[in-house]
Amino acid sequence: MVFFRSVSALSKLRSRLVQQSSLNSSVRWLQIQTSSDLDLHSQLKELIPEQQERLKKLKSEHGKVQLGNITVDMVLGGMRGMTGLLWETSLLDPEEGIRFRGLSIPDCQKLLPAAKPDGEPLPEGLLWLLLTGKVPTKGQVNALSKELQSRAAVPDHVYKAIDALPVSAHPMTQFATGVLALQVQSEFQKAYEKGIPKSKYWEPTYEDSLSLIAQVPVVGAYVYRRIYKNGQIIPKDDSLDYGANFSHMLGFDSPEMHELMRLYVTIHSDHEGGNVSAHTGHLVASALSDPYLSFAAALNGLAGPLHGLANQEVLLWIKSVVDECGENMTKEQLKDYVWKTLNSGKVVPGFGHGVLRKTDPRYMCQREFALKHLPDDPLFQLVSKLYEVVPPILTELGKVKNPWPNVDAHSGVLLNHYGLTEARYFTVLFGVSRSIGICSQLIWDRALGLALERPKSVTMEWLENYCKKSA
Ligand SMILES: CC(C)(COP(=O)(O)OP(=O)(O)OC[C@H]1O[C@@H](n2cnc3c(N)ncnc32)[C@H](O)[C@@H]1OP(=O)(O)O)[C@@H](O)C(=O)NCCC(=O)NCCS
Repeated sequence: MVFFRSVSALSKLRSRLVQQSSLNSSVRWLQIQTSSDLDLHSQLKELIPEQQERLKKLKSEHGKVQLGNITVDMVLGGMRGMTGLLWETSLLDPEEGIRFRGLSIPDCQKLLPAAKPDGEPLPEGLLWLLLTGKVPTKGQVNALSKELQSRAAVPDHVYKAIDALPVSAHPMTQFATGVLALQVQSEFQKAYEKGIPKSKYWEPTYEDSLSLIAQVPVVGAYVYRRIYKNGQIIPKDDSLDYGANFSHMLGFDSPEMHELMRLYVTIHSDHEGGNVSAHTGHLVASALSDPYLSFAAALNGLAGPLHGLANQEVLLWIKSVVDECGENMTKEQLKDYVWKTLNSGKVVPGFGHGVLRKTDPRYMCQREFALKHLPDDPLFQLVSKLYEVVPPILTELGKVKNPWPNVDAHSGVLLNHYGLTEARYFTVLFGVSRSIGICSQLIWDRALGLALERPKSVTMEWLENYCKKSA
C-alpha cells in the first residue's frame, strides 16, 4: 500500500506543480507528462529509486527480525510454509487466492481496461499493473500494446532451432527450445559483457523482458501450427491486442475465443514467487542469467505434470472418463472412476494445491465464463459434476490438504469448446502467460539488486545429529 500511496502522492505533487507554472510552461509540461505517462519505461524509471530506498530501510531497520520457525518437516516437505522469497508482483492467500499488486481477479476484471464494455481484462493492462502497481488507463494500455507489437518480430534462427526437433517432440520442448534460441538477442548479456554497472542492470533486463513477452506468442503459435496445422503459419495482426492476436495466430478468430484468451493470459500470468516456474525463473536470474535464460528454465519447470502440465492431464483424463462411461454418466459411475484413478496410484489432475486451501479463484472465474458463454457444453457439465464428486473423495483419503479444484481443472474444457482440442499443447498457453508475471518480477529483481539465491542444505545425518542434540 505504501507503494500505491507514494505513487499517488507523486501525481498530486505533479498536478500542483502544473497549476503553479505559467500557462505556456504548463502546456509544455503537460505535453511532456502525457508522453511519459504513456511510456512504461519512464514510469518505472520514476518508481525505482523510491522502492530501492524502501528496501534499504527494511534491511537496515528490520534485518534481524525472526520470520517464524523452520521445522524438519519443512526441510523435508519441499519448503512448504517457509517464507524465503521476496516477490513484489503478486501475493497468494491460502483462503482467498491470488492478488496482483493487491487486486483480486474480480477487482482486475472490474478495473483493468478491456477490449469491449464489460469484457475481460487486457493482459497488457495486467503487465502495466504488475510492473508499476498502478491501474493503467486505456491510453497507457494501448501504448503498451503498440510497443509490444513493435518488438514482436522473431529472428529466423529461432524457427530453425524449433524445426531441428522432430514434429512429435512435446510442444513444451519445442516452445522452450524457441525461447532459449531467442536468447541470442539478449541486451542484458551484451551490456554485461561491456561492463554495465549494477545500478543500471534493470534497463537491459527491461528491454529483454518486453521483447520476450512480445515474442513468446509468436513462438508459441509457430509451435502449434507446426505440429497440428501442417506448418501453415498465420502472421500476426497488428490491429489486435496481445490476447486476441495470440488467438488469431493460433487460428481462432471468434470474438468469444479472443475474450477467453485475454482472460486466460491474464489469470495464468503470476501466482506469487514460490511455485516451481516462478521460483525457477527467479533462482536462475539471481545468478544474473538474462531473462531469456531464466524464463526458458522456468518453462522446463512448468512442463512438469504436478505444475503446468496438469492442464493437459485434466483434459486427457476427462476424455478418458467419457470414453469409459459415456457422456451421460451418473455420479456413481464418476465416483467409481475417481477411485479407480486413485487406486492405480495416480493423482486426480486439477485438484489440490501446494498453498491454496479453497477453490482457486482462477477456477471460479473460468466457471463464470463457461456459465455465461457455454452453459450447455457437455464437458463443462462434466467439470461441474466433478466439482461435486471429487472433493469429498479426496477428503476421505485423509491426507490431501486441499481437495478443491485449481486453475487447471477448468481451462481445458473452455479451449476445447472453441476448437483448441489438442491437450498436449495447453501448457504452452500457460507458458506464454507466465512470461508476463515472471519477467515483471525479474525487472524488479534487478532494480532492487536482489541477492544471489543460495539456501543452506544439510544431510540426513546432520539432521539426525541436530535433532538428537536438541531432544
Ligand atoms: C498440486 C499438488 C502437487 C500439491 O501437492 P502437495 O502440496 O504435496 O499436496 P498435499 O500436501 O495435499 O499432498 C498430500 C498427499 O495428498 C496427495 N494428493 C494431493 N492432491 C491430490 C490429488 N489431486 N489426487 C490424489 N492425491 C493427491 C499427494 O500426492 C500427497 O500424497 P503422498 O503423501 O502419498 O505423497 C497436488 O495436489 C497434486 O498432485 N494435484 C494434482 C496435480 C495438479 O492439479 N497440479 C496443478 C497444481 S496448480
